[in-house]
Amino acid sequence: MSPRFADGAGVDSVAAMATELRDSHGRVMRDLRVSVTDRCNFRCLYCLPETEEAANFYRTRWTGAGTTVASVPIAYEWKPRSELLSHEEIERVVRVGAGLGIDKVRVTGGEPLMRQGVEELVGRLSAVRGVRDLAMTTNGFLFGRKAKALQEAGLRRVSFSMDSLDRVNFLRMTGRDGLAEVLDGIRLARELGMTPVKVNAVVIRGMNDHEVEALVEFGRQEGLSMRFIEFMPLDASRAWQRDMVVTGAELLGRLRARWEMEPVGVPERSAETARRWRFADGRGEVGIIAPVSEPFCGHCNRLRLTADGKVRTCLFSIEEHDLRPMLRGGATDEELAGRLVEIVRGKEAGHRIGKADFVQPARTMSCIGG
Ligand code: 5AD
Ligand code: SF4
Repeated sequence: MSPRFADGAGVDSVAAMATELRDSHGRVMRDLRVSVTDRCNFRCLYCLPETEEAANFYRTRWTGAGTTVASVPIAYEWKPRSELLSHEEIERVVRVGAGLGIDKVRVTGGEPLMRQGVEELVGRLSAVRGVRDLAMTTNGFLFGRKAKALQEAGLRRVSFSMDSLDRVNFLRMTGRDGLAEVLDGIRLARELGMTPVKVNAVVIRGMNDHEVEALVEFGRQEGLSMRFIEFMPLDASRAWQRDMVVTGAELLGRLRARWEMEPVGVPERSAETARRWRFADGRGEVGIIAPVSEPFCGHCNRLRLTADGKVRTCLFSIEEHDLRPMLRGGATDEELAGRLVEIVRGKEAGHRIGKADFVQPARTMSCIGG
């Protein structure tokens, strides 16, 4: 055991010699999601709702746009800068992870484009040996301003979050009148050839489920890969209710009633979370991500690093593993690698949503990163 780290991060020699991040269920981690800030310029209902009314949108007779302005905003406390990992620290964790088989890195937030100098950070990460796929998930609002610099820094792929094509409903769901900017950002990503451009929509019953067909049409027209995500219990206000989840099966039924679709085969044991369907007319495909009703934990190869330096082995982890004391306390790369190996060994078998003992994690998606 190394006595240097207050959190008891002992690093045994077997762990230090491991060359991959294998958990006790036989899964090998390849995908690291790095949240680079906990801040966001949006206030999505299902993540960082602007007001109590917005948070309780399904309980009250809240009418959306307008009421949000009049009522008192919820004050979120962002992490002070000193607690966030620096670019160098993030790069180091990614490099050590890449040495252990991580080959896919996704930059997330909060909203990653709110991080100062994010292009510089992307440049560092794209230069890490072993990282063959570097992507970003963004709400797209600031993408227009940064796109060129990000591409030059080595960003190859972007996923956008866009839940509505209706200006008023977009405002209702995100707390911001930003649909036009997001649409411009999505189109720009295509023009720049950052393909396939993925667009994610979280589907919430009674909020935007009536827009699903329109979103599919949009994706087909614009040559985008549209993906629908089940609403998960990760919202700051803990307003999640199962009734509000439109299950993947229900959604698929609706889409198949309208379009002829065929499943896109994925290799056995693929870690892909989306079930993909292509349109029989050859115009595009959609993905359905159903973590609530059809958990894919058995194939999960993901690890998460929060903006303040904590490793999470699952979106729904209750426990986090702080790397900051090591990063700032003079640990060697070998010691860091050993710690990562140890953390991964303890990865949970899967989430417990829907089980009697389910506990919602203390942090929202804005901290954890998607
Ligand atoms: N349920 C499902 N998806 C969510 N996201 C954020 N919060 C939730 C939630 N409670 C999505 C965002 C984005 C990605 C990072 O995660 O819409 O697409
Ligand atoms: Fe919305 Fe993403 Fe911002 Fe959360 S982090 S409020 S999901 S844009």
